[in-house]
Amino acid sequence: MAEFHGKIAIVTGGASGIGEAIVKELASNGARVVVADRDRGGIDRVVAAVQHSGGTAAGFSLDVADAAQNATMVEFAQKTFGGLHLAVNNAGVGGPSAATADYPLDGWKTVIDINLNGVFYGLKYEIPAIMKSGGGSIVNMASILGSVGFTNAVAYTSAKHAILGMTRVAAMEYATKGVRVNAVGPGFIDTPLLSKNLDENTLKFVAGLHPMQRLGRPEEVSALTCFLLSERASFITGSYHLVDGGYVAQ
Ligand code: NAI
Repeated sequence: MAEFHGKIAIVTGGASGIGEAIVKELASNGARVVVADRDRGGIDRVVAAVQHSGGTAAGFSLDVADAAQNATMVEFAQKTFGGLHLAVNNAGVGGPSAATADYPLDGWKTVIDINLNGVFYGLKYEIPAIMKSGGGSIVNMASILGSVGFTNAVAYTSAKHAILGMTRVAAMEYATKGVRVNAVGPGFIDTPLLSKNLDENTLKFVAGLHPMQRLGRPEEVSALTCFLLSERASFITGSYHLVDGGYVAQ
C-alpha cells in the first residue's frame, strides 16, 4: 500500500520510540520522511533502517526548543524533498519527578521548552510550508496527561494539557486553508522514555493502571497517528484522540 506516495513528512523525535514507529509506517507507505531529532546516532540508525527497507528518509539534527532550528528543519524538508505535507510534533521528555512545591525550576523550564514551546515552534513553521505545498495534516503528540493529572509530573502534565488548546486554535485558524491539526493522547507506551526512567516494578504498576492491564506499543500509536495524517481522516480536525488501553475511561 502506498497511501502516502508523493507526500513529504517531518517527524520530530523520530529517532526513538513512538516517533521511530511513525517514521517507519509513513515511509513504508510511500512518504519521504525527515527524521528530526537531537540524537544523531538514533537518527542515523532510523534513516538506515528505512533505506534498508526500500523507503526514503533523511536525517536532521535539532533541538526543538530552539525556534530558529525548527525553521531550518522545515527549510531542510523543502530543499531535500521539495515541500511539506505532513508533520508530527512528537519530540518530548519526561522531566523530573517531584511534587509541585518541590519541582525544580530548571526542570520546569526544560520540559516546557521542549514539550510545549517545541510544538508551537513546529506549528509556526510547518503550517505555511504545508499551505505552500497545497495542504496536508499535522499531529501533535499529547498524552493521557493532556486529559487527567498525574502526581509528581506538573511540568509534563501542564505541557500536554496546553498542547490540546494549541491544537484546537491552529485547527480552527487553518480549517479552510487545507491544513488539518489534531492531537493524539497515548497511554503509557513501551518506549525508552519509560524503560530508561522506571524500574521493573514501577513499569508493572503503570501497566496495571490501564484497564487492558498492559503498556501500549509504539506501533499502536503510529497506526492512529498515520490514520489522522491520511486522507481517510479528511473531515477530522481540531480533535484529540486517545490510544490508551482504556486509561481515561476509568
Ligand atoms: P523516546 O524517549 O523513546 O523518544 C523521544 C525522542 O525525542 C528521542 O529520540 C529524543 O532524542 C527526542 N527528543 C527529546 N528532546 C528533544 C529535543 N529537545 N529536540 C529534539 N529531539 C528531542 O520517547 P517516546 O515515548 O517515543 O515519546 C514520544 C512522544 O510521545 C513524547 O512527546 C512523549 O511525551 C509522548 N508520550 C509518550 C508516552 C509513553 O508512555 N512513552 C505516553 C504519552 C505520550
